[in-house]
Amino acid sequence: MKAKRTPEQLRSFRWFGPPTMLGFSHRSRMKQIGYRAEDFTGKPVIAIINTWSEINPCNYHLRERAEAVKRGVWQAGGFPVEFPAFSISETYMKPSPMMYRNLLAMETEEALRSLPVDGAVLLGGCDKTTPGLLMGAISMNLPAIYLPGGPMLRGNWRGQPLGSGTDLRKFWTERCAGTLSEEEWNSMEDGIARSPGFCMTMGTASTMTALAEALGMTLPGASSIPAVDSNHTRMALRCGERIVQMVWEDLKPSDILTKQAFENAITVDMALAGSTNAIIHLVALARRCGFKLDLRLFDEISSRVPVLANIRPSGAYLMEDFYYAGGLRALMAQIRDLLHLDSLTVNGRTLGENLAGAEVVNPDVIRPRSNPLAPTGGTVILFGSLAPDGAVMKTSAADPRLLKHVGPAVVFKNYRDLEARIDRDDLPVTEDSILVLQNAGPLGAPGMPEWGMLPIPKKLLQKGVRDMVRISDSRMSGTAYGACVLHVCPESFVGGPLAFVEDGDLISLDVEARRLDLLISEEELARRRARWVRPAPCYQRGYGSLYLERVLQANEGCDFDFLSSKVEMPEPEMH
Ligand code: FES
Repeated sequence: MKAKRTPEQLRSFRWFGPPTMLGFSHRSRMKQIGYRAEDFTGKPVIAIINTWSEINPCNYHLRERAEAVKRGVWQAGGFPVEFPAFSISETYMKPSPMMYRNLLAMETEEALRSLPVDGAVLLGGCDKTTPGLLMGAISMNLPAIYLPGGPMLRGNWRGQPLGSGTDLRKFWTERCAGTLSEEEWNSMEDGIARSPGFCMTMGTASTMTALAEALGMTLPGASSIPAVDSNHTRMALRCGERIVQMVWEDLKPSDILTKQAFENAITVDMALAGSTNAIIHLVALARRCGFKLDLRLFDEISSRVPVLANIRPSGAYLMEDFYYAGGLRALMAQIRDLLHLDSLTVNGRTLGENLAGAEVVNPDVIRPRSNPLAPTGGTVILFGSLAPDGAVMKTSAADPRLLKHVGPAVVFKNYRDLEARIDRDDLPVTEDSILVLQNAGPLGAPGMPEWGMLPIPKKLLQKGVRDMVRISDSRMSGTAYGACVLHVCPESFVGGPLAFVEDGDLISLDVEARRLDLLISEEELARRRARWVRPAPCYQRGYGSLYLERVLQANEGCDFDFLSSKVEMPEPEMH
């Protein structure tokens, strides 16, 4: 237990306390906006880092929620200051929001370092905003609480619940197959996104906010409260109150984010059949804490954790159902024996203490161990001659008959090539073919977009085919589904074996053996490698160029090499 800090020991006191010219300047500028010196001097100054934006509908309510956080900070005797951070909008940001996660992490870290703040409440929700904010906060290591924005309400179309992403893709497939009219398709547009909040399927946002809670970085029960439920506003208030105490206690991310906390997050990820993107983000978060999470650890934990969350795309329900069925605490209580219950969380209690009294209200939404959705975790890690450094597959969302499959490759050089040819009548493809997409990885695309759920060729759709083996070095939305092998490492752009696959090559996928192999000889592979030419980078300046020079591969979390370690940074000099 650390000694309680004194007002003079607060970091912000360096700015506001001294009777110097600089102290005068800092105090006078707060007075400029109407505060008195006693409002902020010697009080925990709490940054409310807000990813609210009018171009990010998932986080649209966070401007209002920040007011509730402020109320909590004031009530607990702190001084709140809200400021904006880069709002990575999953829907709108191109070529891929993933390219900008590290930029948000850098902005968060440097804002916390350079400004007079003692602690932070991080407001995010839409996919990359959760890992981006957390990565920055971990590296700065000031007391911090994450407030997840919460899922949006269930979609509704003619009385049917609709899930973000998952049902968009499902009904688009039917539209392409000619089984859904234009009028039906258009009418769905009004009902699929009915309120602020993040995607209400078990996509990346729902997964990452749940994992933030499993890591101990949110208050208990915070991750699945629907964005517009008044419980969410009360949770925001509690975050404001608690962060002030955390500053006095000097409770930092480094006290919470142990190796065991990450194992808890992986365990919860598997029980949720979480988004495959979570693997990349957890690896990146762990590296910021100084831990290396080997991909094999995900597979090992996956093999002993049942899928209990019956949420789309792997299951039937949506996040609103999950919350009212008991939420994440209830799910974690079902797998208590698989968790490190002594892990500390932001409320100063252990995970085990926080699970006391949690119960499942609807056992069809949060399944009991005796009736899981799947007996083992939803995600597997594959290795083999096509993926020497690993690949990822969400088996819970795939047609089981494809989990052991050998088929001839149909290769697309990039996404433009895929778009141009996928629906041509003369494409030499059958339902046994394996669709391969190259140059869709962290550097190749760039930004590793969510292209991994390659479309089924129209002529096969019309024959009733709805799933095929698809392989790429890209990612897949957590709301997507199908027998898609993702994150193939090393990526094709840097000369991974995926770059050398040609039409007609046989590829073997064997999920049980955890293998992904290109069935050509070593000699032939060497010949192809010798004549391969690395494509030119697509950015010559700006952030894109920095990204291409310094981003790591997917198995290392796609962080920048110069950010992904635990190195003490000096506090800013002040003269
Ligand atoms: Fe924001 Fe899905 S688009 S969470």
